[in-house]
Formats: sequence, C-alpha cells, structure tokens
Amino acid sequence: MSTTLQLIMLALVGGSWGQANNTDYKRVLSAVLGHLEGGLELHLRNAEDGDRGIVQFLLEQKTSSLTITLNQDHNDQSKADTARHHFYLFEEVEHVGRILGGLHNTGGFYIIALERHSPADEDLLLDLMDHIWLKHGHSRIYYVLLNEDNVVLYNPFRKTVQEVNGTRTYNRIYQNLQGYPLRIYIFDSVYSSVVGDGASQKVLSVAGADSKLAKTVAKHLNFTLDFLWPDDEFFGGRLADGSYSGGVGRAHRGEVDIIFAGFFIKDYLTNQIQFSAAVYMDDLCLYVQKAQRIPQSILPLFAVHTDVWLCFLLVGTLGSLVWLLLRMFNLLLCIEEIEHRSHRARKIGLVTTARRIFIDTWVVWVRVNVVRFPPFHSERIFVASLCLVSVIFGALLESSLATVYIRPLYYRDPNTLKELDDSGMPIYIKHPAFKDDLFYGSDSEVYRRLDAKMLLVAEGEERLIQMISKRGHFAGVTRSASLELIDIRYVMTNKVHKIPECPKNYHIAYVLPRPSPYLENVNHIILRLVAAGIMNLWTGETKERAKWSIQRFPEYLAELGVGRWKVLTLSDVQLAFYALAIGCLLSGAVCLAEIKLTSCLRKSKKVHL
Ligand SMILES: *[C@@H]1O[C@H](CO)[C@@H](O)[C@H](O)[C@H]1NC(C)=O
Ligand SMILES: *[C@@H]1O[C@H](CO)[C@@H](O)[C@H](O)[C@H]1NC(C)=O
Ligand SMILES: *[C@@H]1O[C@H](CO)[C@@H](O)[C@H](O)[C@H]1NC(C)=O
Repeated sequence: MSTTLQLIMLALVGGSWGQANNTDYKRVLSAVLGHLEGGLELHLRNAEDGDRGIVQFLLEQKTSSLTITLNQDHNDQSKADTARHHFYLFEEVEHVGRILGGLHNTGGFYIIALERHSPADEDLLLDLMDHIWLKHGHSRIYYVLLNEDNVVLYNPFRKTVQEVNGTRTYNRIYQNLQGYPLRIYIFDSVYSSVVGDGASQKVLSVAGADSKLAKTVAKHLNFTLDFLWPDDEFFGGRLADGSYSGGVGRAHRGEVDIIFAGFFIKDYLTNQIQFSAAVYMDDLCLYVQKAQRIPQSILPLFAVHTDVWLCFLLVGTLGSLVWLLLRMFNLLLCIEEIEHRSHRARKIGLVTTARRIFIDTWVVWVRVNVVRFPPFHSERIFVASLCLVSVIFGALLESSLATVYIRPLYYRDPNTLKELDDSGMPIYIKHPAFKDDLFYGSDSEVYRRLDAKMLLVAEGEERLIQMISKRGHFAGVTRSASLELIDIRYVMTNKVHKIPECPKNYHIAYVLPRPSPYLENVNHIILRLVAAGIMNLWTGETKERAKWSIQRFPEYLAELGVGRWKVLTLSDVQLAFYALAIGCLLSGAVCLAEIKLTSCLRKSKKVHL
C-alpha cells in the first residue's frame, strides 16, 4: 500500500544538517533543481531511504514543493499525477526496470539516483537509456551516479552518456541533433507548397517561406528533414466524435515532431499540442465581387466626387448673390461709375439687372468671356477673383477627367462590415472553423447579424472565389495573404474586392506536440530569424513572386491593359455629343414652340383686325 507523507519527514529531519554543496553532484543537482518549475515527488522505497545523503539534500532544497511517496507500486497509473518531476532511488541499474511502465513524457524531469554504479554497468545503462528514448520519446532523465559523484544525461543523437555540468547541458544536447531524422510536416498552405510523388507517397521537394525556415532550422540544429506525406485535411481540427484530423491530429497523437506550416494561434481544443514562437501575422477578411465598371458614356460625371460638383453649383449661386449685393451697395451709396453708360443702359429695370448679373456670374464661373465689364471697381475686383477660382476648379475637373479615362472607374464597393451588412449579402464559408472564428461572441449588432448570415458550403469543382468573381451576390471569407498570393489574379484583374475592415487578426506559428524537447531550440532560431527581418524578407519575396507570376498569363495582362497606351477614341467623348444632341433637341423644340406661338398670335391679331 502506498502512503504519502506530506513533508512530515522534513519536520523530523530538521535543519540540523545544513550541508554545503561539497560534492559535484550536489552542486549540479542544486543548480538543476533551482531551474525546474513545478513540484518534485520523491518516490522512496522505505523509511530508511529518508536518511540517505541525497534525500536529505533534496529535502533541503527550498526551490520547489516536495511530495514524498513511500513504497509505491511503480506501475500504478490510476493515481493522479500531481507533481511534475519525480525522484527515484535505486541500488543499481538493473532495478530501474521496475518503473519503466510508469514513465510518462509529461514535460517534467525524472531524477534517478543509483547508489552503486561501476564502469561495467555502462552498457547496461546505455541500453536502458536507449530503450526509454525509443519507447517513450523521452530523455528528460537525470541519472545521479552517487558513488561516482556524477550526474549524467542521455544524448540520444550521439548515443552516449553525457556528463551534466550545469542547467544548460540538457538544452545543449538538442542543439545538435547529429543528423537525426525528425518527422517534419509541411503541406500546401499560404507560405508553403509541396511537390510529391503520388505513387510512392514521397515528398520530393518543398518550397515557400515556411520551408525555407524549416531548412534553416534543420541546418542549425543539424537534423534531417523527414517529410511526412500530406493528407487532404490540411490544418484539421477536432471532429464531432472527439478525434482530431489533419495537422492538429498528427501533432495531437505525436505522429510528427514539428509542423512547419503556419497555424493561427488559437484554441484547437486539445492540450496535446503547443505553438512555436509567432512567425508572422495574418487577417481573416471578407471579400465580394468587385462592383461594376462605370460605363464610358457617363464616366465624366463621376470624374470628381459629388461634393465637388455640389460645391461648383453652390459657389456659382453664391457668386451671383454676392455680385448682386455689391451692385445694391454701389447703387444705394451712389458710387461713381467708371465709364458713363448711355442713359438708356442706366434706365433698365432692377429685375433685368439682376438677371444680367446672374448670367454674367455663370459666364465667368464656367470660364467664358464676359461681354461687358461691370461699371464699378469693387465688382470688377470680385469678378477677377471669381475668375481665379474658376481656373482652379476647371483644372481640377480637367485633370480628373484625364485620369478617369486612363484608370477605369468602378461603382462604390462596400468598404466596411456595416456596408456589407446593409447590402444583405449572405456569407459563404468553406471551413466550419470560420463559423467560430469570425464574428462569434461579439457584442456588436453588426457582427451578430453577419454571424447569422454565414452559410457553410462545399467547395466543389469550382472554387468559391471563382464563383464570387463570376456571379457575385454573396461574400466569401479568406486569409488576407491568400488574396495576395494564390488568388492575386482575382484582385489584380479587379474581379473581387477585399473589404478593408477585417474582423479578425491572428498571430501565426508552427505546431509541435506537447511536450517536445525541440521547442526551445526551434524557438531560439525562429525568433532570431524574425527579429532580423528574414521572415519578412521571405514572405515579401513570395508576395512579389505572386505579383510577378501574372506576367506569365497573357490573358490577364490583356485584361489589365498593361503596356498599352490609352488612346482616347470617339467613344470616350460620347458624353459631349450626348449633351450636344440634347441641347439641339431642346433648342429645336423651343424653336418649334415659338414658331407655333407667333403664328397663333398673328392669327389672333388678324382676327381682331
Ligand atoms: C549550493 O549551490 C547553489 C547553486 O549552485 C547555491 O545557490 C547554494 O547557495 C549552495 N549551497 C550552499 C550551502 O553552499
Ligand atoms: C560545460 O561543458 C561544456 C562542454 O561540454 C562547456 O562548453 C561549458 O562551458 C561547461 N559549463 C560549465 C558551467 O562549466
Ligand atoms: C551534423 O551531423 C553530422 C552527422 O549527420 C555530423 O557528422 C556533423 O559533425 C554534425 N555537424 C555539426 C556541426 O556538429
């Protein structure tokens, strides 16, 4: 029966020993224990073990909480594992076999003290170490050789016993894997692509920023990349039956050592996986079909914003008002006119004057010559300033006109989520995970409505983005980087429009099983590469390559009109002719009406006569 004596022993022992770190193993162990996080459980064979030097030494360490277990059945796994690290004391190597079944790779360390160890046992010890490594993938075991006053670790890559001289020794083992093959998983993702031989299920080559990083890590840690054959699930996740698919599933089951494909850092509903340091960031964005092009015939009307047109009209009207006021003051204050007008000219009525001023203002405002200059200084100055403003307005209009002929104009695209919501479009998604990712659990009314509009659709022959670019009427969800990489042609040829307001932003990292002895050293290299900007360089290069790749497709180039001069044709000046035609028709109609009217008048006159 196992008994746990919570530190009662400590009280019995008391602090009377107060030993110094007078031997090597104590110095090393003391440093190692100071570095461990979490509690340490002492598994003792019997009460007498409590008197042994090493146990006393451990009891004196104040850095971690201690639990003492006596005479425990080593293979008893039903008991909850409360402590992270474990200490066992054995007479010699052969006895270690008793705990083999109970060893767990939980990320904690084991400390196994051997009272008697002779060079003759060396092979036995190595066999044991190798066995544990192969069976459990576990090398977190400090072997304390008491009679040799030594602490050793197993180096599974050199297959040797490594003497420990400090806390860094364990980590140093994993800095050089001596060409050991690590199971690496890379699949076709945003920044990675795989070329493989389907028949033999062998990965032939990998490319992309992720694989460049994988190769760099492999070079620095000196391991061989043993690529796993990708399955169709890509990222994967938790399934309804509680199992896990895709990359998440492989890491969860420990079938892979490192997945060098960017995963969003979020909850994948398993604590058997962990993330490396963040490598880059990405947004989850919505996109819709690009709005229609504005037809050539009415293009000039859209050359400038509506507010510019409104301003134009307003200033014209205000200008005539100001001129009228000036004339009123001039007349009321009896200011002398510059040139003496004929008596007849002065006689004209107030309404006629006002009308003339109104017309003259507009004449100046649209930059036509004014026939007669106003007879007052103040008014002339005003007209001159109006001319200046009209020149500026005219220049703005002309340059905008020239621009819209060269760069095609589109009707307004939705630019915020609110506008998308108002448009009433449904949102089609292809991964069920988007449902939980995107709008779920937000307080915003808009988000809640958008959440309700999401529909999971199966992506068949035709990709979702292709459907949207052709038919529109619904929105899609994708990673921002996809629109800059594989789907860039849809953006460059103005087939789809990304809504700039993206609902989610994620850090992206690689995935490892938990626990993994490689994490720390992999992170070390990743962080250095990220800090040096190398990762930005590689992802930027991928993006530039995506842009460049469009040069290989003449049909897209033709659509973009790259390298062609824009020659203005008759169709570009349609609007002018429309305006002319309408003007002619109107004047014709008025002319006819007038002829009719005069003939009617004449007739009535004749009748009168
Ligand atoms: C033993 O060594 C550790 C670290 O090496 C040190 O913190 C501790 O104070 C030492 N203990 C004594 C009693 O010298
Ligand atoms: C431990 O040994 C390694 C060589 O195996 C050496 O590089 C390192 O400096 C040593 N550390 C200490 C604390 O003595
Ligand atoms: C890397 O591993 C190979 C064995 O595959 C070994 O020969 C080589 O010395 C190692 N490189 C370094 C720098 O340790």
